[in-house]
Amino acid sequence: MEHERECVAEEYRMRKSYRIAVIPGDGTGPEVVAEGLKVLEAASANFDFGLDLHHYDLGGERYKRTGEVMSDETLEELRKYDAMYLGAIGHPDVKPGILEQGILLKIRFRLDQYINLRPVKLYPGVDTPLKDKGPEDIDFVVVRENSEGLYAGAGGILKRGTPDEVAIQESINTRKGVERCVRFAFEYCRKRNKMKKVTLCGKTNVLTFAFDLWERTFYEVAKEYADIKTDYAHVDAACMWMVKNPEWFDVIVTDNMFGDIITDLGAMIQGGMGIAAGGNINPRGVSMFEPIGGSAPKYTGLNVVNPLAAIMAGQMMLEILGEDAAALAVEKAVMKVVGEKVKSLSAGKMGYSTKEVGDLVAGLI
Ligand code: IPM
Ligand code: MN
Repeated sequence: MEHERECVAEEYRMRKSYRIAVIPGDGTGPEVVAEGLKVLEAASANFDFGLDLHHYDLGGERYKRTGEVMSDETLEELRKYDAMYLGAIGHPDVKPGILEQGILLKIRFRLDQYINLRPVKLYPGVDTPLKDKGPEDIDFVVVRENSEGLYAGAGGILKRGTPDEVAIQESINTRKGVERCVRFAFEYCRKRNKMKKVTLCGKTNVLTFAFDLWERTFYEVAKEYADIKTDYAHVDAACMWMVKNPEWFDVIVTDNMFGDIITDLGAMIQGGMGIAAGGNINPRGVSMFEPIGGSAPKYTGLNVVNPLAAIMAGQMMLEILGEDAAALAVEKAVMKVVGEKVKSLSAGKMGYSTKEVGDLVAGLI
């Protein structure tokens, strides 16, 4: 008995446990996060790691109630977690910009989550609006710079509301910021080990300062990766190729603004916001994982939105935490559910409720 107790204690000590900050957020965020956690708990039970979850009440509801968006103390607390899991931020009664800047962008910038990693992968059985394209054609990832560019907040407005008003919004691109992003893309491409090709997406023909820096940095870094092919596409052409020949892409690296735009297009070709997930990554710090679809206020509380994007965000989190086997099991379970169970990935058309989809995936882990 004594011995048994010791063994249990030993096992308990050995078992890894991750401290996760959970931010369910607004709208349907809490509903999809609940299903994501259901799946993560199932993975934890089957793959022998612990989850130490701490919920944070952040978002539009809280802002309306208390007048506070997110304090610096909260931000400092978040810094100490192993990872963060986010539902959605955005509220119809709150002026656009307040929550985005005060929560989402503040976390990304201040925790230096300088990569926004967004896989675009079409699973078998999922409808894509691209005629004649299938899972073998749509499998790439976008590495979006996540800490500078037009998002840095540089610029200002003069003589606002007068006929002479001037608005300036500058794109900040630093050698350090661009280089670490480009380097991440090459490293990730090598690890992915698929086509072994990195495409720089820019606009060198017009944005001749910013993308001059990007282009030079890209080809300099590329010299260190002789095993990886390089390619370039202007952002407008990249949109065209993503629709016409998505099979040309393996890893796309781009700046913050272009990355924001092309990943919504990417989400659509992989089956929509119901499945698209992303990670805000600081390779040496705390990273945050989120479904990229937003808070979908009109569906709030109806138990009809698709939780698979949130579940896949959890899957990405497991990968970053180094729980590769668990991550693979979650992806397989999701593939089975999209391939054999749900009728559609769209809210209200799945043939199952939000909770039932969570149960289906969790039951397969
Ligand atoms: C995204 C979102 C955010 C962005 C908004 C909500 C600030 O669109 O994560 O893509 O523009 O980055
Ligand atoms: Mn976006």
